[in-house]
Amino acid sequence: QNTKVVVTRQLIDEAQRLLDANTDLEIVQWKSEKPCDRSWLLSNAKGATGLLVMLNDKIDEELLDTAGPQLKAIASFSVGTDHVDRDALKKRNIRLGYTPTALTDAVADLTVMLILMAQRRAGESMGKVIKGEWPQMPWHPLLMTGPQIRGATVGFLGFGRISQASLQRLLPFGIKRVIYLTSQPGQPVKEDHFGLIKDGAIPIEPAKSWEQLAGESDVVVIGCSLTPSTKHLVNTDFFAKMKKLAVIVNIARGPVIDTNALVDALQNEKIFGAGLDVIENEPNIQADHPILKQPRCVLVPHIGSANIETRAQMAEESVENLLAGLKGEAMVNEVEL
Ligand code: GLV
Ligand code: GLV
Repeated sequence: QNTKVVVTRQLIDEAQRLLDANTDLEIVQWKSEKPCDRSWLLSNAKGATGLLVMLNDKIDEELLDTAGPQLKAIASFSVGTDHVDRDALKKRNIRLGYTPTALTDAVADLTVMLILMAQRRAGESMGKVIKGEWPQMPWHPLLMTGPQIRGATVGFLGFGRISQASLQRLLPFGIKRVIYLTSQPGQPVKEDHFGLIKDGAIPIEPAKSWEQLAGESDVVVIGCSLTPSTKHLVNTDFFAKMKKLAVIVNIARGPVIDTNALVDALQNEKIFGAGLDVIENEPNIQADHPILKQPRCVLVPHIGSANIETRAQMAEESVENLLAGLKGEAMVNEVEL
């Protein structure tokens, strides 16, 4: 009997070929571009040895129990793994692959885009032009002005690969100083992925607390994973400490920000603006959502890694992780459970 694998999406050409080349596998694949039905996943996971999943597939006890004890490896087409119950995997000796390196550049590019869009009021400006309001707002010296990035102190919540790659891109803009908060406040981060800390071009220091980070940053970038301790880390108290001309950017996971608190902060001008790639309860954001009434908020639909090359690379690495997991070999990137 062939080894069964379940893949919750159609993959891009190269990755699909790489997968299909394994004629010894029974490949069960969800064919639609819509997220895979939970009921489809539950019934098909039964008897599977490997799963290749997306970030909107919940991997929990129920699914693992339904799959059965032969399940060896899961490959997630993502850097974030908050959709996966890691403890449940660990208990069952199931390995977990992910794609943290493939998407670093794409997400860091988007971070810079969102910072500049928030500071320079890109969404608000374009919205007015689209609505035909330009004739009523001829050029004048203060039209659509926002804070400059040169001289900014940038605060990173989470200082891993993506945050550091974002910093690398921000240095040429003349930012002045960086502070960052990790799960060990005040402690220097272990990995200096691009040698920026060692290089010492500008001060890069651990913050002692979220209060310090909120209070001193002109730009706050959220680049941490979602855990019980980062959920709603950015709340009413956090916004109250932020500078009036500061912007906040979230390229991580929506629930790190308390959305109601953000709406309040924007509405009452406690901060200047926001740039969001993610938001709580995505993708169920209807046109009447209060965040969409905030002209100083740029919101894009979780497209951080969405450049063509990156998605192809993520697909290939996911297949490689899956195959390595089935064979008991080293994955391209494996989560330490
Ligand atoms: C995107 O959010 C990912 O986790 O890959
Ligand atoms: C007014 O909102 C301005 O800053 O131009």
